[in-house]
Amino acid sequence: MYYCETMNDNTNSKTLKFREKAVNSHDFNSPVFFDRYVIMDKNPYASAFAYGRKKMFEKMNRIVNERLNGKGKILEAACGTGYYISVLKKNGYEVTGVEPAEGMRRKALEKNQSVEIKEGIITALPFPDNHFDAVTAIELFRYLEKDDIKKGYEEILRVLKPGGFMVVTLVNKYALDGFIFSYYIKLMMEKVFGKEIINYCDAVTPSGMKKYFAKNFECEIETESALFAPLRIVYKISPKLGEKCARKFESFDEKINTKKCHEKFAGHLIMVVEKK
Ligand SMILES: C[S@@+](CC[C@H](N)C(=O)[O-])C[C@H]1O[C@@H](n2cnc3c(N)ncnc32)[C@H](O)[C@@H]1O
Repeated sequence: MYYCETMNDNTNSKTLKFREKAVNSHDFNSPVFFDRYVIMDKNPYASAFAYGRKKMFEKMNRIVNERLNGKGKILEAACGTGYYISVLKKNGYEVTGVEPAEGMRRKALEKNQSVEIKEGIITALPFPDNHFDAVTAIELFRYLEKDDIKKGYEEILRVLKPGGFMVVTLVNKYALDGFIFSYYIKLMMEKVFGKEIINYCDAVTPSGMKKYFAKNFECEIETESALFAPLRIVYKISPKLGEKCARKFESFDEKINTKKCHEKFAGHLIMVVEKK
């Protein structure tokens, strides 16, 4: 195990188990993750991962650029292999990364040699208060247990400057790809047959997140969606067919993801929270 030995704080054992699984599995899978982005760079329609990231990054770039217009300090939290760091750098930002998995961090540093990428977890960010104009966290909170989720948001708010904002991606509980349904079945199998699943997953709804932030942080949030989720099923059946459908239906995907009524069914939920 990579991370658990270094985590002797008073975190409860369930939270620690989630944390360890998330860091260790990503440490192990860092080459796979890196290759996914190599494939995406060659063809952003090649896989569900690539197309999903394309749609997500387009929206995230718009959200960040509308607010910062190419100037400011951004923390890319849980930066993985550093792909989104390089996007933010290209867009003109001063970027710092933080990532606990050593394998991921190594790849991120290879890709972004002039960028500071620190070792650290979201619940103990190694940065001072009021330091960043924005914090991005892509596909991180889904892996955390509820105590770490709350601490993670507290930490992000701590390192943000007043008026700064976070952009966080989350798993939609009712996404039309049925991911959460199959996840619940796997969880049940774990309980019945003891076969451990690789990672736990927190799923949310846009309205649930609104209530969560109002209750815990007295903050309003904005949400947006990306990716028409059934495309993921098509990619699973046949990547070639997935690519064809994604290319053909991209404008439909764009349109449907501007509709608020569709938001909770989308493949990716993007949340924006401003620090008062
Ligand atoms: C699905 S990957 C996403 C990586 C990157 N954000 C991207 O989208 O390419 C999740 C990342 O979260 C990191 N992670 C897991 N638990 C974490 C924690 N408690 N604090 C910070 N990062 C964590 C993993 O090591 C991994 O790099």
